[in-house]
Amino acid sequence: MKDALKIIGASTLIPCDASCGVLEEGGVAISKGQIVEVGKLADLKHHYPSASLDFYKHGLLMPALINPHIHFEFSAHRDTFVYGKGFEGWLASVMQKRESIFANAQRHIQRAIHTQLQNGVGSVGAISSYGLEREILAHSDLRVVFFDELIGSAPHALEQNFKDFQHRHTLSLQYKSPTFTPAIAIHSPYSVHKELARRVLEMADTHTPISTHFLESLAELEWLEHKQGWFGHFFQEFLGVTNPVPGFEGVEDFLNLFAKKHLLLVHALFAQPKHLEYAKTISAQTHIITCPRSNRLLSGQLLDPARVQECNLPYALATDGNSSNLDVNLLEELRHALFALPGDLERNAQDLLLGCTARASEALGLNSGCLQVGKDADLAIFSCKRAHTPLDILLKLTQAKKVRALYIQGKRVLPPAP
Ligand code: BEZ
Ligand code: FE2
Repeated sequence: MKDALKIIGASTLIPCDASCGVLEEGGVAISKGQIVEVGKLADLKHHYPSASLDFYKHGLLMPALINPHIHFEFSAHRDTFVYGKGFEGWLASVMQKRESIFANAQRHIQRAIHTQLQNGVGSVGAISSYGLEREILAHSDLRVVFFDELIGSAPHALEQNFKDFQHRHTLSLQYKSPTFTPAIAIHSPYSVHKELARRVLEMADTHTPISTHFLESLAELEWLEHKQGWFGHFFQEFLGVTNPVPGFEGVEDFLNLFAKKHLLLVHALFAQPKHLEYAKTISAQTHIITCPRSNRLLSGQLLDPARVQECNLPYALATDGNSSNLDVNLLEELRHALFALPGDLERNAQDLLLGCTARASEALGLNSGCLQVGKDADLAIFSCKRAHTPLDILLKLTQAKKVRALYIQGKRVLPPAP
């Protein structure tokens, strides 16, 4: 029976709600792809005597993980770009070799999707520059928020860039479904024309997730706030612009684009407290996404969670793409974040756990990331004998290397049905 009630249980259950509590011998009851009860397995069996049961002994049942920022199209990149010469060295290498993504793109995209699922990732925020991965993702097992990305700073190309964007986004809207949400990305403050960005953002309502790379480098901050530094040279050398000037009158002018929007600020590595405070005032739905390994590789440093917490902004964790990381493995990202982020270990562990579940879900505007009545039944089970604290759980996840079972909308996708 297709939509029959089922119970999924495990030796340990972590709902990933704000309390970050742990339940032994717990489970969820599911109907029509949604959670209808969470509790002790014995109680669930009593309440739903005819439900089927999948029980995972020595298993940890939790919400499926969420990777809110990844570029699938750049999956073919391995050693393509320059690391260790600052963000500037990396961006220069991107400009020289960007088009190499087209070689065997489909195969590499499939492999990156496989990595997500094997990591226990049920949902992704996919940043799309060309639309090469649209159809593959729409037909994959993943739940996808698909960000058509706008790029283009040249005034003379404004109309053409707008038309190109409109075309890609119209195609994405045709794939809209419960597991595919079309959304919009504005590449960054240095790479978009203000008027173009404004016109594109007019297409979005207040619920549409809008993602943007934000203050990923010190050079970007200098360019935006002081109209000087490396970006002047960049625009002359790579884009042939004589007398280049920033497209925005400072950080606040850029953030004003996103008034009342559902906003994901990706990186925010060089954002000062006043910028984060301002971001909060322009939208009550502002989320920070941090990609620690990418930040370390490109800009040499990590976002200090304390800086984000001081401003009361929620943060989530993501891998970014292969173009600015060693891989797109979210469990590896968690492991590195846990060991490398400054601050209290237990506190960071709890934040990271929520950052790849409940907070990542909120950032993407999804109804998952937490085992609660009414949430979509996107579930991951990892091998784990016992775990009692968020730190225990994160260590077990990163040791597990891959998921034991994965359910999306209540349907098991891993291991695949025989
Ligand atoms: C552009 O297309 O205008 C652009 C691309 C990358 C960086 C900056 C600008
Ligand atoms: Fe990115």
